[in-house]
Amino acid sequence: MKVIPGPASKELGEKIAQLSGLEKIPVTYKVFPDGESYVRLEGSVRSEHVAIVQTTSAPQAANLMQLAFMAAAAKRNGARKVTAVIPYLAYARQDKIFLQGENASIETVAAMLHAAGIDELITVNVHSENALAKFPFPARSLTAIPLLAEHFVQRGFQNAFALAPDKGAMYIAEQAQRVLGGEAGSLEKERDPYTGQTTQTGKNLNAKGKTVIIFDDIISTGGTIVGAAKILREQGAKQVFAACVHPLLIGDAEKRIMDAGVKEIVGTDSVPRRASKVSLAPLLSNELRTLQSG
Ligand code: R5P
Repeated sequence: MKVIPGPASKELGEKIAQLSGLEKIPVTYKVFPDGESYVRLEGSVRSEHVAIVQTTSAPQAANLMQLAFMAAAAKRNGARKVTAVIPYLAYARQDKIFLQGENASIETVAAMLHAAGIDELITVNVHSENALAKFPFPARSLTAIPLLAEHFVQRGFQNAFALAPDKGAMYIAEQAQRVLGGEAGSLEKERDPYTGQTTQTGKNLNAKGKTVIIFDDIISTGGTIVGAAKILREQGAKQVFAACVHPLLIGDAEKRIMDAGVKEIVGTDSVPRRASKVSLAPLLSNELRTLQSG
């Protein structure tokens, strides 16, 4: 197996190659003055199983096109099998038709990647497992929550309270709790179906005097974390951290979260940001080693 670190995840892809002891194929890439992408694989992939590491956070369209181009180039140059390692899978939130006239966007992404020659997908904490069912080839999602929780243990925060910002994320808080060894709980979040406005409440939390780490899959605008931090402050938490797998952190999200009294944001390098303090490389290189031996 050989690893192709795509332009959107160059650093992570290189770390994965290094940790797994696999050869890497460098990629030359550029963007033409009109915005079109160009990629070229700088090594032989003939008869190889290749793993292309490429995240698909913003700019989603360009990153997806580069991924498709790298997969097609691999197949054109004789690769036997192409596994796409997509740390953050874009469009997983539009996994079904909510309103008539819409598209199930992830289905189109899946068809496009299939047409480009991808045979298998590995992603991390996909927003909806249902999105994976739309791929016409094997697709699975790994969890990085234990890695995030381990980061806090290493820093001496064992037994911290693992909080999910809504009931749907309780399984995330429970995964963190298994590593941290403290309590876990969740807030309630309700969305107005007409305005899209969300309301969060926290009953029976017992956060007083505790170190609380809010765990979520994605931090996007930061609204969810800001709301949760406000409740925790009102309830007298000692200190509040925010941890997520995918730190999209759109616009001034980071500032808003810090202004809400959160001590620190810890994310992974699924989306390269200042908050990407935990690398997915151990998780993904381990998965590639298993694939290779299987
Ligand atoms: C929601 O279901 C997700 O798990 C996150 O809570 C959400 O995407 C966070 O978005 P934002 O940061 O914009 O509140």
